[in-house]
Amino acid sequence: MIYLDNNATTPLAAEVIRAMDKCLRTNFGNPSSGHSFGITARKTVEHAREKVAGLIGASPDEIIFTSGGTEANNMAIFGTAKRFGSGHIITSSIEHPSVLKPLKYLEQHGFSVTYLPVDKYGFISPASLSRHIRKDTILITVMHSNNETGVLQPIGKIGSIARERRIAFHTDAAQSVGKVPVNVKRLNAGLLTIVSHKFYGPKGVGALYKRKDVKLEPLLYGASHENGMRPGTENVCSIAGFGTAAEIAVKELKDRVRNMKRLSGLLYDELRGQIPGIKLNGHPAKRLPNTLNISFPGVIGSVLLEKLENEIAASTGSACHEGKHTPSAVLKAMGLSDEQALSAVRLSLGRDTTEQQIKKAAKAIVRAYRSL
Ligand SMILES: Cc1ncc(COP(=O)(O)O)c(C=O)c1O
Repeated sequence: MIYLDNNATTPLAAEVIRAMDKCLRTNFGNPSSGHSFGITARKTVEHAREKVAGLIGASPDEIIFTSGGTEANNMAIFGTAKRFGSGHIITSSIEHPSVLKPLKYLEQHGFSVTYLPVDKYGFISPASLSRHIRKDTILITVMHSNNETGVLQPIGKIGSIARERRIAFHTDAAQSVGKVPVNVKRLNAGLLTIVSHKFYGPKGVGALYKRKDVKLEPLLYGASHENGMRPGTENVCSIAGFGTAAEIAVKELKDRVRNMKRLSGLLYDELRGQIPGIKLNGHPAKRLPNTLNISFPGVIGSVLLEKLENEIAASTGSACHEGKHTPSAVLKAMGLSDEQALSAVRLSLGRDTTEQQIKKAAKAIVRAYRSL
């Protein structure tokens, strides 16, 4: 089996397994306890916080550990909404459900939300965003890269607009961190979501970066953990694994970008050379280096993947309910027809993907496609 679904999740890095194993065996103290067991656990959490902060150019006291990306996104959105009580929020039409669903909820409770359209490449327009800002705009939330297409939004520009207009700005960087450089200062982000399991760390842990001057109401109420933003005894060993994943991401990032770019380019070229009419969805260059979202003319993406079920693990952005296929909302927002959107497959490479696997995968896909 060749694993080409690294945007869904990644396997744990060996270093992460070692760090977590050691922690699980020996480091069981409560980080809030004053004795030596507690102090050891506290040191583990704080060490991880430094590593996660280092990966995105933040300072450690700007990192709030959460249960993952969904919670970080909810914290940014509801935390801002609760602070203001009412107002207007700007987002894009291609956000992850963990952004869109909280916004839908807020719309039902008196907030208004503008969903910016995207162009054929999947970009929102910063100029159009500027035009939609109102006196009562309280938050702009636009994802850094899209999970289905890998398209990278002009976040630096959007962030500077938000900063100039003194509006809180959140970006969901779940898919970007560990795959491309992410620096909170360069992006002008006040709030930024990070997810451990998207870059070789464990699942069920993530973080919200919160710039010091940004104010949020917490989602949960309890003791004073995480600077009062997220009560509950810390998930110490998952946080340790997350920190290790961040540490190795810093060291490997350049190589990861180079290798994944080369191999995804190779895969695309192999497929393009043998399957006439395939279409790359998203921008040809301004994309995560590991992500290929491709429409295969005349077939249904999920049917193609079923044919490949013993050879390749990948995914489609479409949903299947009661035997009926629903096209991906992201691809539809980019102007694809139902047929083009339903024929899409997302192939997402990882740091361990090899050239041999890519050549094998290309052959298998071509064979499966022809058989359909
Ligand atoms: C863009 C994006 N945001 C948020 C999330 C949510 O992360 P988690 O499932 O860890 O809560 C994901 C996960 O797929 C994602 O791709």
